[in-house]
Amino acid sequence: MDGKKIIVAYDGSPDSEKALKLATTLAKAMYANLVLVSVVDLTPLLSDDTGNIGATLDAMRREHENVLETGKMHAEDLGVAVTTAVLEGNTPEVLIKHAHEVRAMMIVVGTRGLGGFKRLLLGSTAQALVTYSDIPVVVAK
Ligand SMILES: Nc1ncnc2c1ncn2[C@@H]1O[C@H](COP(=O)(O)OP(=O)(O)OP(=O)(O)O)[C@@H](O)[C@H]1O
Ligand SMILES: [Mg+2]
Repeated sequence: MDGKKIIVAYDGSPDSEKALKLATTLAKAMYANLVLVSVVDLTPLLSDDTGNIGATLDAMRREHENVLETGKMHAEDLGVAVTTAVLEGNTPEVLIKHAHEVRAMMIVVGTRGLGGFKRLLLGSTAQALVTYSDIPVVVAK
């Protein structure tokens, strides 16, 4: 897809849904397309005890694909063009790298995600994106 692109960091959490809605509004105003990205964290595989890491990884990838399918439908219902990508590795690092690859104009992210530390005002993914990205980051509220 050519043209301007906005990355949405999407993990299916309520806050990432807010990010998707905000990104949709921005995309319409800026005549941009959305790129929905969900990153598979590979670290749980280090302690995988199922004896079949390949099957565990496939299941993780499928889960992320399903999450993105839902997000894609939501954004398309609101009238914007969307592509999706399931990527693997360190979430903020991979998001920033992908934003560069597709020449995204910004990354839109939720305040919190699926993690549990409610004490934190800003989740670690959002925090790392704001800290390390040289592409503008918008944190949805
Ligand atoms: N695996 C992921 N793939 C894509 N985007 C993600 C992923 N994890 C988080 N995000 C994005 O980052 C936002 C904030 O989530 P974050 O992970 O920072 O908070 P958290 O899960 O509450 O805390 P923590 O991960 O530090 O325990 C989410 O709303 C989403 O936009
Ligand atoms: Mg998280």
